[in-house]
Amino acid sequence: MNYPSFVVLIVLIYKCQSKCVMYDACANLSPLYKGQSPFKAKWQNCEYSGEPQPVHNQHVMRMFKKLCPSLYNGDDNQALCCSANQIRILTKSISEAEAIIGSCPSCYFNFRNFWCQITCHPDQHRFVQPIEYQLAETNNFSHVLHEYEKAKQITDFYDDFEEYEQEETESKHMGYVVSKINVYMNREYLGRLIESCRDVKLYGSDALQGFCGVPAHMCTPEQYAHHMGLEVEQNPFKMNFILNQTEQKTLSIHRTRIEQQQQKEDTVDALIQPVMPQYFMCNQSFQFGDLDYGSRCSCK
Ligand SMILES: *[C@@H]1O[C@H](CO)[C@@H](O)[C@H](O)[C@H]1NC(C)=O
Ligand SMILES: *[C@@H]1O[C@H](CO)[C@@H](O)[C@H](O)[C@H]1NC(C)=O
Ligand SMILES: *[C@@H]1O[C@H](CO)[C@@H](O)[C@H](O)[C@H]1NC(C)=O
Repeated sequence: MNYPSFVVLIVLIYKCQSKCVMYDACANLSPLYKGQSPFKAKWQNCEYSGEPQPVHNQHVMRMFKKLCPSLYNGDDNQALCCSANQIRILTKSISEAEAIIGSCPSCYFNFRNFWCQITCHPDQHRFVQPIEYQLAETNNFSHVLHEYEKAKQITDFYDDFEEYEQEETESKHMGYVVSKINVYMNREYLGRLIESCRDVKLYGSDALQGFCGVPAHMCTPEQYAHHMGLEVEQNPFKMNFILNQTEQKTLSIHRTRIEQQQQKEDTVDALIQPVMPQYFMCNQSFQFGDLDYGSRCSCK
């Protein structure tokens, strides 16, 4: 029997007040193989509508302080819209950019901060709005990571990978993950970020090209946002950047929920106030607390 897809349209208008709009890594998009690092898979964030939470992990907060110094407020119990797992995943994926733009601390800082804001900002709802959710089989990143590390220890010891038998994963749960978001960012901010990276060279070619998809001299905020949000294949979800919304404003956000045969749609009203994150220019030296980036600046 052939079940045609159908669309249920529900229009719900209510004020969206929770500060975080997604939380934690809860479903792997690509399959995970036995003994494979969970960082190799793309993890999607769970639907969440609630308050920011403390990470409750000192080791991870040390990672956070290095990764996102502009968001770190000095308190290891500060509440964030990202979980320990998201900080681990972000640290891992951002470190790949260090080889490319790490020679320019301001460019590298601005790049990290761009992702930190979207992922962890405690007022995430002000500039990040999910527009598409997908029903997916959920998975527990902490558990997978723990099992992976345990297996690695065992295999390091025996030096024989086959001897490790991973326990069968328990019954599967389904949940909504975020598959597309709107990100309201200031065009000027992206312009500054691009400027700070424009002259960075990697083996003589433009480092920025990899982030913008076009040669550095042609990179505009729109092009950068398009490439970063919709073309970079490492992203676990799509990001629609909206750069021309600069004032605080209540907007109607149209959302879609996708289940196998079904799409449900609704609309929420959200008060949007794009952030203007801190940034540094290429010729600026800067420091945060005990982290000093000033001494090794060379952007050309
Ligand atoms: C995920 O796994 C961790 C570690 O195994 C466990 O402490 C935690 O309760 C699990 N979370 C959920 C939601 O099952
Ligand atoms: C921003 O641009 C979009 C698409 O080009 C347009 O639909 C929207 O009305 C613009 N918003 C503002 C605030 O100018
Ligand atoms: C950095 O460069 C900008 C122009 O790109 C200039 O206006 C500014 O004064 C410079 N700052 C320093 C500290 O040299």
